[in-house]
Amino acid sequence: MLGKNLRGMLAPVKKSREPRNLERERVARVLKRCQKESDPHPLAHAVQAALGYLPPHALELLARQMGLDEESLRHKLEADSEILFEPDCARRLEICSGRTCARRGGARLIRQARQDLGIELFETTPESGLRVEPFRCFGQCARAPNIRLDGVIQGAMTEKRFGGLLGLLTRPRK
Ligand code: FES
Repeated sequence: MLGKNLRGMLAPVKKSREPRNLERERVARVLKRCQKESDPHPLAHAVQAALGYLPPHALELLARQMGLDEESLRHKLEADSEILFEPDCARRLEICSGRTCARRGGARLIRQARQDLGIELFETTPESGLRVEPFRCFGQCARAPNIRLDGVIQGAMTEKRFGGLLGLLTRPRK
């Protein structure tokens, strides 16, 4: 029998909670809801309705759920002109929702984007075509909070700078 102190020392260390990955959560929810669906098209459309497009990891999960290989599923879906494999937007703004960024102001930036742009995450502004989505850690935590605009990371983002950037990105085009 282990002594009380030794038992305490050997107790498993609680894993710190992983930051949420909203995109993956949405895909998992859709696939779970449509578990009995045997046609991949309605499933792909359901994922697209939730995220605005069919991301690569969703295609992979979809193929697994359908018992198909990913490549042949992709060919099948490519025949459907309404399925998008890339989001339909002019610009893509990702806000890091990883733990460090979220704590250092990233969560506020997400709120600010939703409020100022009047859209939800994974949506695109109708006039300026700006899509906003969360991203879980760009691997640049030292410069938190980070955003990524069209693939370019910008660190140490303040609410003031971010507000200015949103204003520029949504300025009516001449
Ligand atoms: S948590 Fe944002 S870059 Fe790592």
